[in-house]
Amino acid sequence: MASRFLISFDRDPVDWYLLAEIFEKAPFAKRNPDDLKRSFEHSYISCFAYEGEKLIGAARAISDEVYYACIFDVVVAAEYQGQGVGRALMEVLLQKLPLDKIYLTAPPDKQGFYRKCGFYKHNNAMARYAHPEQAFELGVLSRWGAFNSWYQRWTKPHPVSDSETP
Ligand SMILES: CC(C)(COP(=O)(O)OP(=O)(O)OC[C@H]1O[C@@H](n2cnc3c(N)ncnc32)[C@H](O)[C@@H]1OP(=O)(O)O)[C@@H](O)C(=O)NCCC(=O)NCCS
Repeated sequence: MASRFLISFDRDPVDWYLLAEIFEKAPFAKRNPDDLKRSFEHSYISCFAYEGEKLIGAARAISDEVYYACIFDVVVAAEYQGQGVGRALMEVLLQKLPLDKIYLTAPPDKQGFYRKCGFYKHNNAMARYAHPEQAFELGVLSRWGAFNSWYQRWTKPHPVSDSETP
């Protein structure tokens, strides 16, 4: 990364309102600053990118410190994207996670970025959402029938009956 950027693990000086604005304008997600603060404070590692004293990006991971970690909320301010900040955030997170298995989710148009960080598509992943309807509509989640036909094609072991289809 160019030397004008700095990565810090210190959560104390972070302006959570500014980080929420970065999330919204990235564009990534609309986040409540207090919830954002709690999520970064409860993560195993949180890291923040700065140009001088200006916050320009962030990323975080949760982990059991033994087997697994999961990376969330990798975000770079819109005007700083494409300058190596995202890669730098991922590199410092991955250096702190010398584990066998590291997971994340990413929409199709961001998967190329994570591929460059060493990630592959994961064909065994499942997820439980409290409100899955929109994710079904977007194709982020597959209904059980679609998942099962994919699974049977690859393994052909134990077909699941239609009664298990939500
Ligand atoms: C995705 C994101 C974090 C990438 O950060 P960035 O600072 O723009 O990326 P970098 O400049 O560090 O790019 C590193 C490499 O990945 C590539 N890359 C970046 N974004 C990419 C994309 N969307 N698709 C494919 N490749 C991408 C770059 O070309 C670069 O490749 P190179 O090193 O061979 O030149 C940033 O664009 C972002 O914050 N987007 C909005 C929020 C978001 O969607 N976050 C991800 C949620 S899963």
